[in-house]
Amino acid sequence: MKQKMKSCCFLLFLEILILLSGCSSNDNNSANTLRIGVALYTQDDTFISSIVQNLEKLAQQNENQNLKINITIMDGKSNQTTQMEQIDQLIRRGCNFLCVNIVDRTAASVLIDKAKEADIPVIFFNRQPVAEDMERWEKAYYVGSKAEEGGKLQGQIVLDAWLNNKNIYDKNNDDTIQYVMLEGEPAHQDTLLRTEYSVKTLTDNDIKVEKLASDSANWSKSQAINKTTEWINQFNNNIEVVFANNDDMALGAIDAFTNAGLDIPLIVGVDAIPSAIDAIKNGTLCGTVKNDAYGMASTMLDLILKLYNDEKIDLNLQDEHYLWLQYEIITIKNA
Ligand code: BGC
Ligand code: CA
Repeated sequence: MKQKMKSCCFLLFLEILILLSGCSSNDNNSANTLRIGVALYTQDDTFISSIVQNLEKLAQQNENQNLKINITIMDGKSNQTTQMEQIDQLIRRGCNFLCVNIVDRTAASVLIDKAKEADIPVIFFNRQPVAEDMERWEKAYYVGSKAEEGGKLQGQIVLDAWLNNKNIYDKNNDDTIQYVMLEGEPAHQDTLLRTEYSVKTLTDNDIKVEKLASDSANWSKSQAINKTTEWINQFNNNIEVVFANNDDMALGAIDAFTNAGLDIPLIVGVDAIPSAIDAIKNGTLCGTVKNDAYGMASTMLDLILKLYNDEKIDLNLQDEHYLWLQYEIITIKNA
């Protein structure tokens, strides 16, 4: 009996040891295990989920006899305090790298200092910290797309569609675009710059625009349905263009017009998630701008593997911290 208790205790002790030893419990060959801690602003975001799926798939493909790649994902639940605690946990658990999709992009300095103290390179992605924070440490990186570029390309889609089909889209024949803007989270670089540069592309091309309304729907389809329904009630059938800072919100706008039994105006999104590509194919979405989820995942992993193997970083690192992905216009022509 005593013996049994003893071995039971020993097993429990072993289990705790294994749990404490790494980012997860199934790696005991620590010499060859690369541990990546991934902290997400929320797990409940279509685009972010697709980056993570790509990262997991690529990590698996890069495993071999000598290398196990272990990824631990933390859901920040849109709370910066929660995310900071998760970063502490990932550091305590012995992760070799941190990939951070930061909740509040103005809060990066504390996080970078933590990583620096533990000497764990930190790769931010999709949610861009302010430049002066990035300069705190040479092992702080950012992988993402240039927000204003996304806005410009979205504006370009609207410009082309408007010029080609003004007779359809200019409902009140006043040679002016009456638009509404579905914005992402306030203060997100993609919200600020996509909003600004999409419209600027039109005005730079001498297109007259009239903003009917602009408001945040926090990247969310359901919030976008509600917002757009409000606007449909407010502006009757006078909305000619809907700019959405991302595809989920663009799809929400399409639903709102469909629910109201109205014709769908010119709607554009950003991301090129699969459901948006379907919407382009069936003619409800005019176009989107591809935000390269696969490219972000593969760039992060490339960088990690180079650093892990002490190889020269021959990636296109700009200003010592930044790896940029290209946006791309997607319309019926190339969907
Ligand atoms: C994407 C959005 C996403 C957001 C999250 C943006 O770049 O376009 O779909 O919700 O990032 O940070
Ligand atoms: Ca008009």
